[in-house]
Amino acid sequence: MQDLREFNSGADYDAQYDALYENEITTLSKVAAERGGPVLDICCGTGIVTIAVAANNPELEVVGFDISKAMMAHGKVKASNQNVTNVSFHQGDMVHFDLFDLNLEFETAFMTGNSFQGLMSQKDMRQTLKNIHDHMAPKGKFFLDTRLAENFDFSVQKEFVQGESYTDSNGRMVNYFSKLIKHDVDNNICYIEKMRRYEDGTEVPSGIDLKFFDYEELLGHIKDCGFKVMGEYSSWSLDSFDEDGAGVVLELKA
Ligand SMILES: C[S@@+](CC[C@H](N)C(=O)[O-])C[C@H]1O[C@@H](n2cnc3c(N)ncnc32)[C@H](O)[C@@H]1O
Repeated sequence: MQDLREFNSGADYDAQYDALYENEITTLSKVAAERGGPVLDICCGTGIVTIAVAANNPELEVVGFDISKAMMAHGKVKASNQNVTNVSFHQGDMVHFDLFDLNLEFETAFMTGNSFQGLMSQKDMRQTLKNIHDHMAPKGKFFLDTRLAENFDFSVQKEFVQGESYTDSNGRMVNYFSKLIKHDVDNNICYIEKMRRYEDGTEVPSGIDLKFFDYEELLGHIKDCGFKVMGEYSSWSLDSFDEDGAGVVLELKA
């Protein structure tokens, strides 16, 4: 399983990342409006996209799903504060999730924030894709994003590299650093150490590991798991695919 330390506080996750999801929200709100519901957000985190899609489509039932109770607890508070009542949150592991009790066939599904790279093996990745497929309506649409291994710099870093500073949920300035400490070439997993330095000098360590899949192989697995690739894009604005780009957004049909 992925190192989940980055997902211990929903409020702090939002303080750092909330502003970065405009394109996902615009595109997926439109897809949901056109395609219809119910809508499933797999690895929904704090519901940045889930809640916005639900608010933009109040007639649709929207379901968020994640392994982190802390992330979803914050999402539930946000949805309630915003009076968004057509969204619900469910906890579990995406590899084995079972939402069949809800009796819903999802017309629209998505996975944002490169959460797909939290799948640490080919077996888990295929099981997850099959499971998502089983939860979807025939011809339902599923969108996911992932970085491209082919264009990622896997060089091990000796020093921390400073990223964007931000203000956390308690109003404290945070300097944020990351360092790629190991690339497991056989499994194509990179291990990244993170560190946050607060105004008072306190340093909080964290980390994340990211699995990469060879792109052409990934397309093969996607087809094996029952999906048809309908579109390949370079971003959530659905710009045309760039094979030299940092990542891909895939539009799949169940
Ligand atoms: C980078 S965050 C993205 C969250 C959200 N989709 C967004 O874009 O803001 C990755 C999320 O995946 C969740 N996650 C990681 N492994 C998971 C698993 N095996 N099953 C379900 N959720 C998982 C984490 O808890 C976290 O909320």
